[in-house]
Amino acid sequence: MDKFYITTPIYYPSGRFHIGTAYTTVVADTVKRYKTLRGYDTYLLTGTDEHGQKIQTVAENNNITPQEHVDKMADMAKELWAKMHIQYDDFIRTTEDRHTKIVQKIFEYFLEKGDIYKGYYEGMYCVPCETYFTKTQLVDGKCPDCGREVKPMKEEAYFFNMKKYSERLLKLYETSDFITPEFRKTEMINNFIKPGLEDLCVSRTSFDWGIPVKSDPRHIVYVWLDALTNYITALGYLSDDDTLFKKYWPADLQIVGKDIARFHLIYWPIFLMALDLPLPKKILVHNWIMMKDGKMSKSKGNVVYPELLMDRYGLDATRYFLLREMPVVQDGVFSPEGFVERFNFDLCNDLGNLLNRTVSMVNKYFEGKVPTYVGKVNDVDEELEEYTRKQIKLVEEHLERFEFAQSLQELWNIVSRTNKYIDETTPWALEKEGETLKLQACMNYLIENLRKIAIMLIPYMPDTANSILKQIGITDDELKTWESMEKNDKIPETTKVIEKGEPLFMRLNVEEEIEYIKNGMKQ
Ligand code: ME8
Ligand code: MG
Repeated sequence: MDKFYITTPIYYPSGRFHIGTAYTTVVADTVKRYKTLRGYDTYLLTGTDEHGQKIQTVAENNNITPQEHVDKMADMAKELWAKMHIQYDDFIRTTEDRHTKIVQKIFEYFLEKGDIYKGYYEGMYCVPCETYFTKTQLVDGKCPDCGREVKPMKEEAYFFNMKKYSERLLKLYETSDFITPEFRKTEMINNFIKPGLEDLCVSRTSFDWGIPVKSDPRHIVYVWLDALTNYITALGYLSDDDTLFKKYWPADLQIVGKDIARFHLIYWPIFLMALDLPLPKKILVHNWIMMKDGKMSKSKGNVVYPELLMDRYGLDATRYFLLREMPVVQDGVFSPEGFVERFNFDLCNDLGNLLNRTVSMVNKYFEGKVPTYVGKVNDVDEELEEYTRKQIKLVEEHLERFEFAQSLQELWNIVSRTNKYIDETTPWALEKEGETLKLQACMNYLIENLRKIAIMLIPYMPDTANSILKQIGITDDELKTWESMEKNDKIPETTKVIEKGEPLFMRLNVEEEIEYIKNGMKQ
């Protein structure tokens, strides 16, 4: 069985997770479910990045210890992922022994190798970003990443010799396609590699919430060296039991937001080279979910938390919106109007109605018994079948390329085409005219297409997928596989739809719900 190892960033547990954090995690979960469906032995890792000055400061402000703070936050994160049905296989916390011990080992190994050396650091430091900048990197004297105040700092420190690996990294960029999208690669080459990589300061003495350097404990390991290694420490790299590491490394897909592209596309591959380890097969850099008035921020009162949407509209509607509305490699915009519109049009009208109409017709015309395949009988049967086959390919191709929005769009084209098929075949007229064979073909095709739609929905909206399959009476696991979509004639005679269809989604009152979401964003 082929394996597929997927990672999300490990998030800073400094505050509640918003829909940006949820987005990356839902993407990872969708890929995990898809790969599992395609027969891979999958492994999904997520977790929390618990060290650093920012965490220490947040804890101090709350009058608790950093450890108490991160314990509480890690629980909160796990609760959220459970609520979102994220099928992670492991949750790594950087304060765990299994992580800190290995980070210390790695640091010492780099020291021995000469990849890390001791020097002296002076520069402008941005506390929220945990990053030093040179004066020329600053924008209007402020942090070029977040625009906040920076302060001058000076400390004795350890440095990682990035220059040594600069050439190798460039070669790697030229000879492999491990970065998606391609333009991120160009960005890294032009902005960082070509101008010359600076050695990276990998220790701090200005605070103590972190992993001490084993041989020089006055120094704390820089939070990014600490954090990036989570992807291998979680698998037991350099530990007594490295079975998982042997099995799953290198990662097949590492998903990150554009804000942390530089760390994952430059430092991470270099650390791996220095450890003589294979590089991840793919790093997917996605863009951001924006608000109409720019970035999400508490001070603007425009932050959307996943619970706001989930608790009122359900998990699957939330997952659908995130995946359908975010173009992945461009910024996407969240708007309450957009959310309510997609809910009513795509979920209620298109998908919900198709299921409802079909289930009630099978009940009305055939007492709930789904007719078996009788061939292409109606004029449009051939066309529907061909169209569906072609669309399934597109849904798959886009999904394989992590183009979720396009994939869902092609899937919804099938939903629309199938709804149109009802209008074209006019089953109510077929019934009146006693065209039983045609009516059987029609119902069989409708159920078949719903079955296929449900299968393709499994990665995206698992609960909805199951509900559809249940309502149309598909119980056999073999009729729920991706491969089973190649077949049209396998629905067994015993298949019965449920007696009374349950609506998948209830139509929303547009104005009321827009108000509701807007109010929720201000809390
Ligand atoms: O950077 N839209 O943690 P973090 C889409 N601990 N995705 C978003 C987003 C938005 N508006 N806002 C955040 C860190 N994200 C480090 C990572 S990894 C070794 C260490 C997502 O809590 C996106 O994936 O700031 C982004 O890269 C990540 O959250 C940043 O999470
Ligand atoms: Mg961040």
